[in-house]
Amino acid sequence: MSEQTAVPLYLDCDTGIDDALAVGYLLASTKANLLGIGSVSGNVSAAVGARNTLDLLALAGREDIPVAVGAHNPLAGEFSGGAPHVHGANGIGGVELTAATHDALAESAAELLIRLARENAGKLHILAIGPLTNIAKALELEPNLPALIDHITIMGGAALVPGNITPAAEANIANDPEAAAAVLAADWDVTLVPLDVTMAHVFEESHRQELLEAGQPMATALGGMLGYYFRFYKDQYGRECSAMHDPLAAAIAVGGIELGTAPRVRVAVDTTNGPGRGATIADLRRRHLGFPDQDGARIRVVLTLAEEFSPHLVNTIIGSNN
Ligand code: RIB
Ligand code: CA
Repeated sequence: MSEQTAVPLYLDCDTGIDDALAVGYLLASTKANLLGIGSVSGNVSAAVGARNTLDLLALAGREDIPVAVGAHNPLAGEFSGGAPHVHGANGIGGVELTAATHDALAESAAELLIRLARENAGKLHILAIGPLTNIAKALELEPNLPALIDHITIMGGAALVPGNITPAAEANIANDPEAAAAVLAADWDVTLVPLDVTMAHVFEESHRQELLEAGQPMATALGGMLGYYFRFYKDQYGRECSAMHDPLAAAIAVGGIELGTAPRVRVAVDTTNGPGRGATIADLRRRHLGFPDQDGARIRVVLTLAEEFSPHLVNTIIGSNN
């Protein structure tokens, strides 16, 4: 696929180990044309996330892709301090990347998104793999944003499975429920990639070894980060492996992987202060009829894939799919 036919993308992320894998995937995929990246506080602060992203781009020799620092705090409240127990103190599992010599843009992530949306009116795809603060701010700054965007893919939520940060809520939504509610209520076509599907596609130690054995700088760095990530997930799966949330959303955004069950239904976000705060309430009551689409609904909730994801991820990053 040429750069002209590849999906023009704005990526919004909280880089983060699985965010780094998503960046590695998108840089390697011929189906993605990464036009800009914004950072947001989540796994790490927005400032650290931008720095990690710049370093990854430098590792790949892609300093041409602009990076903008986004929101430090969610719409309500303050940044909680991130998830060093999951992603390490530096957000990338303690792996030391060579520091990039280029800097983030002066404009904010929300401003970068709006500019790219205007420059690519009707074509730009948003891929959001962190809390949705920047996207909500962009909607506030440019209410016409949905008309300028082709599609938005979001890693977040839990439809029929438990959350991962509370029993009810997934981290990206729970870190800014007000932003998520605004983004899911906006007038655009959304693909939501929740824990239902991301927890089901496990990245095993054998896949990590394939990355490490490829002898490529990006694959080696990502394999090193996964060593840290696997320690957290050992508690969840009982063995050295991990979920692969953000790269899975990246692959779906660019059409790299085929969907299985993915109904279009209405989804609300719990913004109360009770135990359900941050839950995504997807209307899947018709599951016994095979998950039909709901009339007028614009949120496709991906529940399963039609194929295995981890081999596709490894092969794309090390170049065997290209
Ligand atoms: O719940 C998983 C999501 O939260 C991923 O995007 C991960 O990077 C963290 O941000
Ligand atoms: Ca993320």
